[in-house]
Amino acid sequence: MTSLPSLEKSLVPGDGEDRREQEGEGHRHRTSKRYREIMSTLPKELGWTSDHMYQYQGFWYTSMNLEGVMWAQQHFKATRLDVFLASTPKSGTTWLKALMFAIMNRTRFDFSTHPLLTFNPHELVTLLEFYFHWNIPYPNPNTPLPETQLFQTHIPFTSLPESIVDSQCRILYLCRNPKDVFVSMYCFKENLTDINLAPLSIEEAVEQFCKGVSLFGPFWDHVLGYWKVSLEWPERVLFLKYEDLKQDSLFHVKRLAGKKGIVHEIIKLCSFENLSNLKVNKTGVLQACDFIIEKKKFFRKGEVGDWKNHLTTEMVDCLNRIMNQKLDGSGLTFHDSLET
Ligand code: A3P
Repeated sequence: MTSLPSLEKSLVPGDGEDRREQEGEGHRHRTSKRYREIMSTLPKELGWTSDHMYQYQGFWYTSMNLEGVMWAQQHFKATRLDVFLASTPKSGTTWLKALMFAIMNRTRFDFSTHPLLTFNPHELVTLLEFYFHWNIPYPNPNTPLPETQLFQTHIPFTSLPESIVDSQCRILYLCRNPKDVFVSMYCFKENLTDINLAPLSIEEAVEQFCKGVSLFGPFWDHVLGYWKVSLEWPERVLFLKYEDLKQDSLFHVKRLAGKKGIVHEIIKLCSFENLSNLKVNKTGVLQACDFIIEKKKFFRKGEVGDWKNHLTTEMVDCLNRIMNQKLDGSGLTFHDSLET
């Protein structure tokens, strides 16, 4: 079993264990207790993947995610040079993490011995809301940080730590057709659900999703939050769609890399076919607190339009109706399939 701090240690000299020692478990437990007390006062709903989800600043979280969000809001200090990959869960974050890690470290690693061949993308790019659970204080005053740090987050724009908004750092948002996100999430949740919980039927899950109750949901408020700032600050916030990335990877990766030449190798290295067939992604688990997930579960099908194989006409109508209503007038639309 591999946990992130030791991996970070191997990639960022001097990082990892030192950070954990500084903070101390006792402090983390006291903070967690305080956050849980706040949570007990929040509106709650039956969770998809855990006993309950809590509504905080208009969005729904599991208790574990919410602890991480509260911690990040209180402590995280972004710098102008940081890059944040933002998305709702199941929008293709694993792919984006691999692509951006490869792009940003293109002069640092050789393709034949690239870290993506031996580490899962989630082990290479830290999830902001898991810093608390890995007990890694940020920033660590004793550790020289690389100039540009790459982070990932599912936190909605309006709840991001202030320093991310104020620091002028760059944000890359990836969104995906909500019906594919829903199906991907529903299939993924089968691997997470607490065995003591009655499983949520797909009909119940659609109903919850359409009420806005999904991980880091309402889905539409999450995408619209980043969509609006991408229009307001196009130089800072880049809005990408999974379907566009799939349709024309070359164009979008060139745009992200800002350079020609190595993009073909990066696309090949990060392709679903390549990553999902690597031993490192076929075996082993990722863990933070009680959250344990097999790495292979991050690679299911990687297709556009798989929702057609899972959703009934009634479910599609329900999802389309709410999305059309919420996105009306925003200029944001989703592709239902790849253009041929
Ligand atoms: P499916 O469940 O539809 O297959 P996230 O990384 O945000 O959790 O999203 C997971 C989704 O992205 C899954 O979708 C997964 O298969 C897909 N995915 C993972 N790696 C990918 C890659 N390299 N290229 C395209 N899609 C990928």
